Amino acid sequence: MKPRYVLGISAFYHDSAAALLCDGDIVAAASEERFTRRKGDASYPAHAVAYCLREAGVTAQDLLCVGFYDKPLLKFERILDTYLATAPRGFRQFLMAGPLWIKEKLFTDRQLRDALAYEGAILYAEHHESHAASAFLPSPFEEAAVLTIDGVGEWATAAFGVGRGNGVELLKELSWPDSLGLLYSAFTYYTGFKVNSGEYKVMGLAPYGEPKYVRLIYDHLIDLKEDGSFRLNQEYFDYVGGLTMTNLRFAKLFGGPPRIPETKLTQRDMDLARSVQDVCEEVMSRMARTAHAATGLDNLCLAGGVALNCVGNGKILREGPFKRLWIQPAAGDAGGALGVAELIWHRHYKQPRTLVPGKDGMKGAYLGPSFGADRIEAFLDSVGAVYHRLERQPLLETTAQLLADGKIVGWFNGRMEFGPRALGSRSILGDPRSPRMQAQMNIKIKFREGFRPFAPSVLRERVAEWFELNCDSPYMLLVAPVKQERQIPLTADQRKLWGFDLLNQPRSDIPAVTHIDYSARIQTVSRDTNPDYYDLIQEFAKLTGCPVVVNTSFNVRGEPIVCTPQDAHTCFMRTQIDALILGPFVLYKAEQSQWKENQNWKREFQLD
Ligand SMILES: [Fe+2]
Repeated sequence: MKPRYVLGISAFYHDSAAALLCDGDIVAAASEERFTRRKGDASYPAHAVAYCLREAGVTAQDLLCVGFYDKPLLKFERILDTYLATAPRGFRQFLMAGPLWIKEKLFTDRQLRDALAYEGAILYAEHHESHAASAFLPSPFEEAAVLTIDGVGEWATAAFGVGRGNGVELLKELSWPDSLGLLYSAFTYYTGFKVNSGEYKVMGLAPYGEPKYVRLIYDHLIDLKEDGSFRLNQEYFDYVGGLTMTNLRFAKLFGGPPRIPETKLTQRDMDLARSVQDVCEEVMSRMARTAHAATGLDNLCLAGGVALNCVGNGKILREGPFKRLWIQPAAGDAGGALGVAELIWHRHYKQPRTLVPGKDGMKGAYLGPSFGADRIEAFLDSVGAVYHRLERQPLLETTAQLLADGKIVGWFNGRMEFGPRALGSRSILGDPRSPRMQAQMNIKIKFREGFRPFAPSVLRERVAEWFELNCDSPYMLLVAPVKQERQIPLTADQRKLWGFDLLNQPRSDIPAVTHIDYSARIQTVSRDTNPDYYDLIQEFAKLTGCPVVVNTSFNVRGEPIVCTPQDAHTCFMRTQIDALILGPFVLYKAEQSQWKENQNWKREFQLD
């Protein structure tokens, strides 16, 4: 029988993406931003779609069905309803959003057909159904409770339900404008970070602060019920009718205007971050407990942008009552492309799920483009790079030695990750034992705030020796403390320090990946999903006794993660990365000639 292909698309809101299934197996998935180099690109994912089709060797004419991750008319209805409820205050917002909606969103069907040159079936799923499907259907569980939490889709802002066999059903929803994602985004905006991408920074900043504003948030902003549902007091927000997240009343409540982006962070910003993080964790915990009570199941699957809050996820896992947790690596809207494709395959075409014990269906999230040695070499020659080709084992040994010597290494290997985290395919690596590594990587390589923590990649079998965790965390979406006996307690003098003054005090024998509160955002690495990365860490462990490396995404601040060898080479040359591993090639910074910007190389999207 001919293979059957289903293509899922998410687009026109933020973070558009495409995902392709072949007989239910995920063959490719990627975000558009990686190809266009526009972070969070929301346009029709032409490059991602083209890549997915090319990876499978098919054209749009071969597709059984195309799925879109939400229902544009329902979303338009919410926008229109909000406009009518808030006019004339909302008039400006409507004028700005209106033409876009009409052009890009309302006529999605025609647009998809034109872009794809495709006249076959197009099916739409509701936004949270897509999230829920992306959380459960590729999970390793036969049955599980499912919880989705984000900013907003059509109307829903959170939902829980149950996944069983090849079905996933939502039982209850929370609706616009009561949204945990938007509450978090309001504080992201207020503390001077970018909404939709700066939430991660707020989470990283939180441990430097005290939960001073928690009471104020509960008293004025959020009426939280025991079951995790809540009402947000719209008197303090401006996202419904205005163009900003918070208003003057909000500023008055918290004692001043929003921080101007890029100005100095103060203790107050840290306290605000800590406070909203605490509230967010409490809401997530209550929602999880409600999902457990309603389903009585031991497994929980999570998706939606808020499921990227790995501190909250870690807390859900520690507190129970769920025994196992699985989080979709592309938890944000990009993952909706995969969700809708899965939903179509299993619900619409009634196809069963095949479970492999102990494994999920994501292939380690290595679902993006890869580049063969010939193609990398041709590129390196075209830019006059100096490089050395090594066999696999010497390459791993050389890289491990560079890391052990304190060098910072760009590691470009195999298929690009799907989802916002780099998992050892497009990563910058370092030695976690070095007390200077965190500041060095932040400032010299990433050009970003010095407080931003780095994450460890650790061999799966040895995670419990280094962290208070003993389960899979393949997608870096769980936070747990560094093992108690490895922690270095603060001295009496250090305990008097506040905020960033705490940053330079080593907190454990792997200080570069130990956050200020002794926590770490852990990626467990298994040999079967990424043998090269696994063996590299193994080599590093042979040299140092430490089966952990620092893993940060291969990009600089504000840029999408690198996709092609050219992106990686440009990032390598622009920063102080010491060595670059591009497939089987090693490039040393010291051997390269002077880097000139604006070399005007044409960026190519042709893939192997
Ligand atoms: Fe969403």
